Amino acid sequence: MKGQNLLTLGDLSSGELETLLTLAQQLKAGDSSQAAKNRVLGLLFYKASTRTRVSFSVATYHLGGQVIDLNPQAMQVGRGEPIQDTARVLAGYLDVLAIRTFAQEDIEAFAHYAGIPVINALSDLCHPCQVLADLLTIKECFGGWEGLTLTYLGDGNNVAHSLLLGCALAGVNIRVATPSDYQPQSAIVQQAKKLASGSEIILTDDPKAAAEGAQVIYTDVWASMGQEDSAATRLPVFTPYQVNEELMRLASTDAIVLHCLPAHRGEEITEAVLESYQSQVWRQAENRMHAQKALLASVLG
Ligand code: CP
Ligand code: NVA
Repeated sequence: MKGQNLLTLGDLSSGELETLLTLAQQLKAGDSSQAAKNRVLGLLFYKASTRTRVSFSVATYHLGGQVIDLNPQAMQVGRGEPIQDTARVLAGYLDVLAIRTFAQEDIEAFAHYAGIPVINALSDLCHPCQVLADLLTIKECFGGWEGLTLTYLGDGNNVAHSLLLGCALAGVNIRVATPSDYQPQSAIVQQAKKLASGSEIILTDDPKAAAEGAQVIYTDVWASMGQEDSAATRLPVFTPYQVNEELMRLASTDAIVLHCLPAHRGEEITEAVLESYQSQVWRQAENRMHAQKALLASVLG
């Protein structure tokens, strides 16, 4: 994967995903790598972040590299300098660039002009780094991916899109339960169906049927960053999709609960479930660092 971008999980083959997460497990188990020695990661984040920002930074330090936090508000790009100019200039200084922004097209434009590895650290379309950590967490909890079913409940958003692609690549069955007006984009669903070799992809508006027998119950906020204005309208529509104890009783007895965080307790997930023995969210958050360490080591070569 040396020199490659990660703009969406569709950029990876099943084999690359497997290799990447095996490396993540080795690094987590104590193997060390200095793959980022004398290398610098730029973080260009147009949206807030706790996990992604800190886990990328710490991962780079562990790999012997350094990080520059590029605040777009303090840069000329924040005053209208074009992406194609900014990208080429940054590529002259940096070795790898992680971008969190709104439009996927902007990340693609950075990648096109930069010529250094560009990593999507979340866009409105997808959140590939999150799902690398999610698949790592599932592998740790169940020893593998085969035969498992992940049920995602809530908004057909960036996280849902990456879960569709990631589960398809990993061979995990996925059920996505959303209100009918908030389904994932059909282009992503089609792409996931093409990537899936044998695993099931089900879209439904029935949260209970979707949860039945699943090994992984996953949810995310009902209003993502940039959608705050519609939060009140969304609340009653999404309420039937809440991950609570009643819903958990429908899942497999060994089911785990994942949430990319930050969580809104009492909305998409209850306090009781988030803090239950089934919740693996803290392990999942830690795994952001291990997965991204493997990603950085792979793209830096
Ligand atoms: N899950 C996630 O991406 O968290 P942050 O927004 O804190 O980076
Ligand atoms: N869907 C959420 C994920 C946050 C990590 C958002 O985009 O705000």
